[in-house]
Amino acid sequence: MNVKIESVSFNLLKVEYLYGMKQVLHIGNRSALLCMLLVTVISQGAQSQMNPYQYTISKSATGKKGAVASAHPLASDAGLQVLLKGGNAFDAAVATQLALAVVYPGAGNLGGGGFLVAFTEKGQSISIDYREKAPGAASRNMYLDKEGNPRLELSQNGHLASGVPGTVAGLFTTLKYCKLPITALIQPAIELAEKGFVITAAEANSLNSTKKGFLKYNTRPTAFVKDQPWKAGDTLVQKELAGTLKRIRDNGAAGFYEGETARLITEEMQRGGGIITLQDLRSYTAAERTPVVFDYKGHTIIGMPMPSSGGVLTQQMLKMIENRSIEVMGFHSKESVQLMVEVERRAYADRAEFMGDQDFVKVPVKRLTSDEYLQQRMNDFVAGKATPSTTIQAGAIQPESEETTHLSVADQWGNAVAVTTTLNGGYGSMTVVGGAGFLMNNEMDDFSVKPGVANMYGALGKEANAIQPGKRMLSSMTPTLVVKNNKPYLVVGTPGGTTIPTSVFQTIVNMLEFGQSPLDAVNNPKFHHQWLPDQVMVEKDFPAALKTDLEKMGYKVTQRGQIGRTEVIRINWKGKKIESIEAVADKRGEDHASAY
Ligand code: DON
Repeated sequence: MNVKIESVSFNLLKVEYLYGMKQVLHIGNRSALLCMLLVTVISQGAQSQMNPYQYTISKSATGKKGAVASAHPLASDAGLQVLLKGGNAFDAAVATQLALAVVYPGAGNLGGGGFLVAFTEKGQSISIDYREKAPGAASRNMYLDKEGNPRLELSQNGHLASGVPGTVAGLFTTLKYCKLPITALIQPAIELAEKGFVITAAEANSLNSTKKGFLKYNTRPTAFVKDQPWKAGDTLVQKELAGTLKRIRDNGAAGFYEGETARLITEEMQRGGGIITLQDLRSYTAAERTPVVFDYKGHTIIGMPMPSSGGVLTQQMLKMIENRSIEVMGFHSKESVQLMVEVERRAYADRAEFMGDQDFVKVPVKRLTSDEYLQQRMNDFVAGKATPSTTIQAGAIQPESEETTHLSVADQWGNAVAVTTTLNGGYGSMTVVGGAGFLMNNEMDDFSVKPGVANMYGALGKEANAIQPGKRMLSSMTPTLVVKNNKPYLVVGTPGGTTIPTSVFQTIVNMLEFGQSPLDAVNNPKFHHQWLPDQVMVEKDFPAALKTDLEKMGYKVTQRGQIGRTEVIRINWKGKKIESIEAVADKRGEDHASAY
């Protein structure tokens, strides 16, 4: 891998990627870091289309007319180019998602699902649910053996792990808010799939470390496996995926849910013991839902409703801290962190008990979010002392298998769009649909396969999230908007499994309460409590003294890998005019912010 160093600022390297150079540069003992792109570039002004064989990464970008932040530079650029052509934030969100399905195969997807939360220039709050559904032949105990023991290998990997994909239906539902036709929005993705793009060291590592899984869970050769290990600078070409994208371009959603693509999906399922049928595909529909909307100290927060727990958890957590003067306690003070940990614990306990797909079960959302209930919930909170969670056995958390992706978009007209989309684990089920070139999700693991058995994120569930044919599995994805004076102000979201709502919560609190810039709010170390297991998980750079303070209060504190990859856009208004739009991409990945 070849990198040109432009400058070094703080502990962030400002680098430019130059493939084709002969030498790898070393800075002291930081050479390993060069494999990850950690870049701070403030870009301004119009930009020409990015070269897929030689591109740069920007961690923040400021403009006046529009911005996109996503997990990959080429995907953010696909969105930016659409904005430059006169498209709105919805157009850019569609183009960015389609490009992510090509350049970020670990999470960007056609074979998964997601959620969109938006605020339109007309002042309308909307949400689109394109979460996967359990296939018609799914049943409550499908992942249990005869003795009733869970077989998580089946809910997490391979053909049987997949729900009926929702992404393509979601994109076509989004189109009604778009200005440009699908033919324009899908073209960058087609080109990236057909002609290929250069991969980074991190992407090469990720493909290499999944090789075994690809070989195990596929019945046909895939673009992701080759004889020699992948390395930085290799070109990833996905011809079969390009074919699928063209069928979608030419036939709309039917290009995926019917005809050749549907046939290829069902044939793949039959070869590998999956249960998705033509009827499951034909009958899949995305749903426009009424978003979760609530006030937080004069800001309107707009979040995703069930089947995502994200909006309700965000509401519960923010409302439980609202009257406790957290800004006076200060950022990363032991008081504010303990308070946030305790509200996280209480919200996640409710998640496990009550939350699921409201099309199938009654979720007491009104009660769970009422002021009276949330006040009651905090009655047993003791400052300076951990409240123990009850003693249900929770499973181990496997942060290394996390993969989801979030994108934030804003435009000059005041549309703001937050989308979180996922295959669930990294590369989903690891099964690529033979002849169609896209990965299927392993979202069935987000159901509660059995009460008391944790899913791959350690989340527990009960009846509300039990498997039923056609039901959507409970999610943590939390695409969120903050609106001020009836104008979009913040666009926030992240991947991270069950850590998603706590990351979004902390990012919002960092900005609204502690006055942090979007860059600091995103990059500062995060912590996470999800009721069970009863521990505070912290990132590596979480302050050691604060960890000791928490331990003294009775908390078990464990260090884990990074928490989330948060993308934030802040829109600064001067009266009715946009003064600036700031986009920030998380330092934790190769995420990229564009603006013009
Ligand atoms: O919907 C959910 O909650 C999970 N399937 C999300 C998975 C995820 O965020 C993995 N990524 N880091």
